[in-house]
Parts: sequence; structure tokens; C-alpha cells
Amino acid sequence: MPTSESSPDALRLIRRGRVVTCHGVAPDRTLLQLLREDLHCTAVKEGCASGDCGACTVTVAERTPEGALRYRAVNSCIRLAHSVDGQAVWTAEDIAAADGTLHPAQRALVECHGSQCGFCTPGFVMSLFTLHRQRGGEAVTRDDALHALSGNLCRCTGYRPILDAAQTMHHWPDVPLDEAALLQKLELLAPDGRAPEADSAENFYATPRTLAELLALRAAHPRALLAAGTTDVGLWVTKQHQRFAQIIDLTRVAELRRIERAGDTLRIGAAATLVDAFAALAQDRPQLAPFLDRFAGLPVRVSGTLGGNVANGSPIGDSMPLLIALG
Ligand code: FES
Ligand code: FES
Repeated sequence: MPTSESSPDALRLIRRGRVVTCHGVAPDRTLLQLLREDLHCTAVKEGCASGDCGACTVTVAERTPEGALRYRAVNSCIRLAHSVDGQAVWTAEDIAAADGTLHPAQRALVECHGSQCGFCTPGFVMSLFTLHRQRGGEAVTRDDALHALSGNLCRCTGYRPILDAAQTMHHWPDVPLDEAALLQKLELLAPDGRAPEADSAENFYATPRTLAELLALRAAHPRALLAAGTTDVGLWVTKQHQRFAQIIDLTRVAELRRIERAGDTLRIGAAATLVDAFAALAQDRPQLAPFLDRFAGLPVRVSGTLGGNVANGSPIGDSMPLLIALG
């Protein structure tokens, strides 16, 4: 199956404030492939294609159930394109003003001489852009910057000018973003469960919203791949060149995203992200914080799930020693 082979689903996302509809996006096409090869957005780069270097970092925003915007920096090389359906996506090409005025993340990198090679710099820019949006343009500390840039590697120079840039972004005028209008668009694009049109559909990417929808899909398509953050599955695609014609995305199943407490018991849904699961674990066990902060880079933790880390049997499932130690 070629990577551009059509699928019964269409992908809808917002880039530069416009809704982009990508008909015929194959279920296993990565977000990076979609951006670079289909949308010709070459600012986003491929370095390692395994979620390690951050060259492919893009910013994704989703509408939370409370009606707020949640910004995250993700590795587009190992995210499946359909996983951001109905969300907003920015690359380094999308963040300057229409008149060319640089975004504060870009301007600060220029002023602090933090701009480096064409591979790592777009990724650094997007991690800084994400941090700037998350903090509403307020000043950030060096520790905030180190945390936000933990998924961006440069193998040749130094990080000091980049950290300086992070701490001076707030000096520069912001490029306005109409968040209210964006929230309205995201509400209109909210996926509807996106089940395949017929049980006989051969190629599909389904995003069930409830456990009942998920179980019905699973019963109808027992061979479909169950995928969540795809921090491991993404490598099966980019490194092992495996192909998947049927994918069921677990990340929007409300019951699987829940984290609940009952007495001494903490119940972490299988699709809860590592950042959310770790925050819950660290709430009662603050001594875990240094370990949890060193688990992969931030873009991996905002995508990957603790359930996936347990279930996929990867020999580099770094949460296993922690879970064993916690009994
Ligand atoms: Fe290296 Fe994606 S290309 S993290
Ligand atoms: Fe870009 Fe080092 S990887 S300058």
C-alpha cells in the first residue's frame, strides 16, 4: 500500500488560521510526511525520525473539555497525521505576522544569536513558541526553558544563547492570535467518533470517543492496530517500514483518559499521557519528580501513554522499573 493511498477518512486541521482538509490521507501517514510531502511545508525537518532530536517539532493545540486551548510541542515524525484531526498545528512557517514581523520566539533567537543550523533551529523555535503561548507571553525562568527544550538536541554548538532567547522572549511584541476565533473553529471541527463507514472498510483511521464505541469497533475489526501516543508505533512506521491499513486511535476515548483516586488507589486510564500520569504519581510522591522529568523529552511525554509503555512490551519501556518499585 503506497503511503498516499486513499482512506475513507479525511483529515481536517487548522494551519495559519485556515482549515486544511486532506482527503485521502493514508491511516499510517505521519504528520511529518503530511506536512513536508503533501502540504510542502519544508520548514519542519526530519532528523532522527524516531522522536529523539526534536528537528520535527510542531505545536499542536486542542480544545479541552473545559473549553480552553491546550498547547503542546510534539514530534511530528512519530505522530500519525490523523491523530491531530480537528486540531490546530503550527510550524516555523506559521508563526510570524502576515507583514513579516517575527514572533517573539524567532526575534529573541535572532537577537541572542541562538539561531543555529537549518535542522535543529526550526524545532527549537517551535518549542519556544509553545512555551510562549502556554505562558501567555509572560517571562519564563531558565528552568522553564530547560524543561521546554528537553526534546531538542543540537549536536554541534551550545545551548546558552538559546536559553538566553527563551528568557528574553517576553521583551518583544507578541504576534496577536485570536484564541476565541480559534476555539470556535476547533469546536466546529470536533471529531464525531469517526468510525469507518462500513464494517468492510479496508483502510481506516477511527477515533472512537467512548469505551462502547471502541469495543464495537474492536469487535468489528479485530486485526486493527490499537494506537495511542505512537511514540513506539511511530518507529514501526519510520524505522521498520511497517504498514497499517486499519488503525483505532485510543486517545480520545473519555474513559481511557481518566485518572481517578479512590482511597490509596490511583487508577490511570490506558490512554492518559505520560505527563498527566506522572503528575498524578508525583502528587503524593514528590521524590519521583526528578525521575519523571528525565523520562525521554517533553514532546514524547506529552504524546506517549503510561498504558502504552506497559502494553507494548518494548525493551526500552522506561516506566517499568518505576512501576515495579511502586509495587
Ligand atoms: Fe528527530 Fe522527529 S526527526 S524527533
Ligand atoms: Fe543544528 Fe547543531 S544540530 S547546529
